Amino acid sequence: MLNWLHTTARLLTTSVVGRAMESHTQIDSTNVRALEWASQGAPHGATVIAEKQTAGRGRYGRPWVGGDGESLLFSVVVRPAVDPGRFGLIPLAAGLAVRDACESLPGLPAPRLKWPNDLLVQGRKCAGVLVESVIPAGAPPWAVVGIGLNVNQTGFPDPVADRATSLRLASGRPIARPLLFAELLASLEERLNQTDAQPEGLVEAYLRALHGIDNKVLFRHPDGTESEGILRGISASGALRVERDGREEVFSAGEISLSGIPQT
Ligand code: BTN
Repeated sequence: MLNWLHTTARLLTTSVVGRAMESHTQIDSTNVRALEWASQGAPHGATVIAEKQTAGRGRYGRPWVGGDGESLLFSVVVRPAVDPGRFGLIPLAAGLAVRDACESLPGLPAPRLKWPNDLLVQGRKCAGVLVESVIPAGAPPWAVVGIGLNVNQTGFPDPVADRATSLRLASGRPIARPLLFAELLASLEERLNQTDAQPEGLVEAYLRALHGIDNKVLFRHPDGTESEGILRGISASGALRVERDGREEVFSAGEISLSGIPQT
């Protein structure tokens, strides 16, 4: 086990998330390993963490690069009790959990969420979440929630230098990863439970954290086409509500960029 994880283990308050844990100094991708572990029967909450990834995965096939020894790079197996209609809330629950764990860090300006689950601090991306779902025939769906949180970086290379930040850069203080990781696992457990027990509360909390509400957004569909509209919120199932030409449209997959407010 990575040395500093002994401190996390002492501080951990969860029932299941992070109780089964695998750690690596280097791996291709914690998501890939968690998907493999889950397909071999890893339980709900099983967690894979690495100090360094050689093939970190981002959304839409993009790479997730860097953060060696300075980030939290980890993936959690999620076997939800939720009915499949609420499966779409898992990515939002994960984003909200990251926000929860960071929001009371001393000196940190209020973190916000860019739909579906980028963590923004002062308009710059501080964390990304990649949820990979598996829907087996005749068996309950499950997912791997992969989180990359920039913690102690003191700078970023081009081309992301002016779009990325870390908790350290934004708060002006170095952050203790062992405690933050324990808090993040706890908030993830809580938000995942809420997905099942109180989805309306989850949606309300998410809307309070959502960046850009009632602003103009450019919506990029998964096929690469784009449309403009006004961000109006999210639906009960976690889809984005966008007003276009006076009519509301609902999108369950894609990305947004915001105009008129800080870009990411
Ligand atoms: C995004 O594109 O914003 C999502 C990035 C998710 C990166 C994390 S790092 C830990 C986990 N393992 C991966 O390969 N990807 C996720």
